[in-house]
Amino acid sequence: MSLKINTRVTEILGIEYPILQGAMAWVSFAPLVAAVSNAGGLGIIGGTIFTPDAMRQEIRKVRELCDKPFGVNIISLHPLIDQILKVLIEEKVLVATYGTGNPRKIIEILKPGGVMSFPVVPSVAAALKAEADGADGVIVSGCEGGGHVGQISSLPLIPQARDAVKLPLVAAGGVADGRGMAAAFALGAEGIQMGTRFIVTRESPAHPNTKQKIIAAKIEDTLVTGNITGLPVRVIRNQMAEEFLNMEKTKKSKMEMALFGSGKMQLAFVKGDAEQGSVMSGQVAGLIADEPTCGELIQRIMREFHETIAQLGKIPN
Ligand SMILES: Cc1cc2nc3c(=O)[nH]c(=O)nc-3n(C[C@H](O)[C@H](O)[C@H](O)COP(=O)(O)O)c2cc1C
Repeated sequence: MSLKINTRVTEILGIEYPILQGAMAWVSFAPLVAAVSNAGGLGIIGGTIFTPDAMRQEIRKVRELCDKPFGVNIISLHPLIDQILKVLIEEKVLVATYGTGNPRKIIEILKPGGVMSFPVVPSVAAALKAEADGADGVIVSGCEGGGHVGQISSLPLIPQARDAVKLPLVAAGGVADGRGMAAAFALGAEGIQMGTRFIVTRESPAHPNTKQKIIAAKIEDTLVTGNITGLPVRVIRNQMAEEFLNMEKTKKSKMEMALFGSGKMQLAFVKGDAEQGSVMSGQVAGLIADEPTCGELIQRIMREFHETIAQLGKIPN
């Protein structure tokens, strides 16, 4: 039996399985992006840390490794955002994702340039705005997820966003297996985006110490720092997170906290300091116990997805 399914998300993006690898700064470099896309999902470059030139190089690296569709994540607050958008258009990138700022300004430039926009939104209001601004799809992001988060979890967010917008809808936050994917689809999603699960794959360049930290974590081991700074981030509890919480409690200035946080993701994911670095991770860390290839992972999730739906069909009435 074929594991493939067709949704508007697979059609628009030209992918085999409606599984997106969430962009992750310092993790989703070309090797991971190409591995996900070669496995039939959509890899997305974590592009927020790049200069325009480095962005162009990373896009070209992905193309050397695969000829399948992939996306690029950008940040509208980038000081050289105009040049970044120009690179995306010149390099004929399929789709851009972005989580902050005003989608309209980005869409006004990217759309005529032939690049699709899938904004990442934490609320129904932001999904409606993305639709009004002309987005091609929307990624609704529940606060169970790793990295920067909003206030609403996926279970209430997905169906309410589904009811509010007509756009192709991808669910992010809290999905790491086929059961989670089936649940997201039951709520109205047409695709899923996973970040944390893809960190612990063979092709992921994340440092082994940090992968191990995620494997060892249980569901209770993540927390959200930065509620005070206005940039809440879900991370695994470690020395860095405790120190940050302490800074919040003792009302250190935003500037002090920003300086303290600077470089901490790189410290964890590239240098492997899983205690002093920022190990961004979602609550699904508790579900992650192995390090498959991206191909094995996507096949497994699709199998579990179909099995879950078949099981649900057998509930007696
Ligand atoms: C380590 C890490 C880094 C992330 N970096 C980014 C980023 O640079 N841009 C972005 O839009 N989302 C970022 N995210 C969010 C992911 O793209 C994705 O939406 C999220 O991880 C989904 O939730 P999950 O962790 O439960 O799978 C990051 C997440 C993690 C875990």
